[in-house]
Amino acid sequence: MERQKDFKMKLTGEEKAILNGEKGHILQKIMKTVVLYGEAFDADMLIPITGKPHHFMSMGLKSGKPFYKMMDEIIDAGLTSKFAFTVDPKPVDYENLPLTFFQKQLSKILFGSQDRLEEQLNKLGLEDEKSYTCTCYLPEIGNIPDRGAILCWAESSAVVYANSVLGARTNRNSAGIDFLCNILGKAPNFGFLTNDGRKADWHIELKTSQLPNPQVLGSVIGFKVVEEVPYISGLDALLKNKSSSEIRDYFKDMGASSASNGAVGLFHVENITPEAKEFKRDIFRKNVKTYTIDDNEISRVRNSYPVLWKKKNLKPYQCFIGCPHLSLEQLYWWNDQICETLKKKNLKKASVKTVLCAAPAIIDKFKSDTKAYSQLKDFGIILSPVCSLAHMSNPLCSRKPIITNSNKLRKYSTARFYTDDELLDIITK
Ligand code: F3S
Repeated sequence: MERQKDFKMKLTGEEKAILNGEKGHILQKIMKTVVLYGEAFDADMLIPITGKPHHFMSMGLKSGKPFYKMMDEIIDAGLTSKFAFTVDPKPVDYENLPLTFFQKQLSKILFGSQDRLEEQLNKLGLEDEKSYTCTCYLPEIGNIPDRGAILCWAESSAVVYANSVLGARTNRNSAGIDFLCNILGKAPNFGFLTNDGRKADWHIELKTSQLPNPQVLGSVIGFKVVEEVPYISGLDALLKNKSSSEIRDYFKDMGASSASNGAVGLFHVENITPEAKEFKRDIFRKNVKTYTIDDNEISRVRNSYPVLWKKKNLKPYQCFIGCPHLSLEQLYWWNDQICETLKKKNLKKASVKTVLCAAPAIIDKFKSDTKAYSQLKDFGIILSPVCSLAHMSNPLCSRKPIITNSNKLRKYSTARFYTDDELLDIITK
């Protein structure tokens, strides 16, 4: 029997009863795990989760047996998530990606538990078959938490977006803990769930001559602040002529890059993001540090990215765009840019096999525009709902020279980073 005195955290009568096994052995184990997890971070109590989950675990890796066993135990105990949830993209796409026989066979081995995991996700409360994406917060998917909603998410790019742009509250949880908290319906109160945890540790003064590439700016910030909270001034002026969807997508890509090149889980942008608007510079910690980013700093960091290809001058084999997944507006932007440039150059196909990755619901919407879709297809461009990084975890895929505009994919794989304009130039040569 677990006793309250074994834990420092303040628990309610109901929580103590669960901990004492009064609601079954499995819920007891879940409660104990969540409490111990919270205690490791000095959480003072558990608080109710008030928004839909977005889960990380969408990869049916053969090596994940203990995780699937845990999921089976939860299902067998008749437990489900309190709210229907979305989940990260699938790691494989046999339907749309041009895989060789051996690439396909190896992916089938690596992700040999994919069917089992998907079945478990359905039983635990997956919203629907189209819920596999990292951009659950886009309108076509609709998992958009309210400001102040308490969440327990794990996908770093979604966590930083929910915290920063939507003003919801979630820590960067580990995969697995996100499931347990959402089945319990409670999260330990620490870090970004508290007012103090959301204060700015850094004042980032942006003094560039023009709007930086969001993926590069995110990495410049992430490298410097690592897991601390930046408050960015100067960006609002550079974004002032952009539409609301352009600003949303800028933050989506900047945030994902800062979360992967560093470990940023929350940023504030002066005059734009909700808490920066409400609290202004009162959100600075007393000992706030300052970091000035100018054109030289952007170039310095950009030029520091290593190229992990065996031979640096190889012709790119494949190009992945859309990590995090593209919004519908970004998908149209790439469609227009690629098709118009190829037409101008009198070319029939892109010179590099190019994959545009987006949520299933966004791909469906784009495909319903039959004129745009057939034009893109004719130029040889592929649409896929895959996670390009998970796809590249297959060594037979990652040993090829892959190019991308994603700083997250660059950081975690052998893919080589280029800006949007550079990529466009390469794939339309
Ligand atoms: Fe999304 Fe996969 Fe990139 S989850 S952010 S496409 S690594």
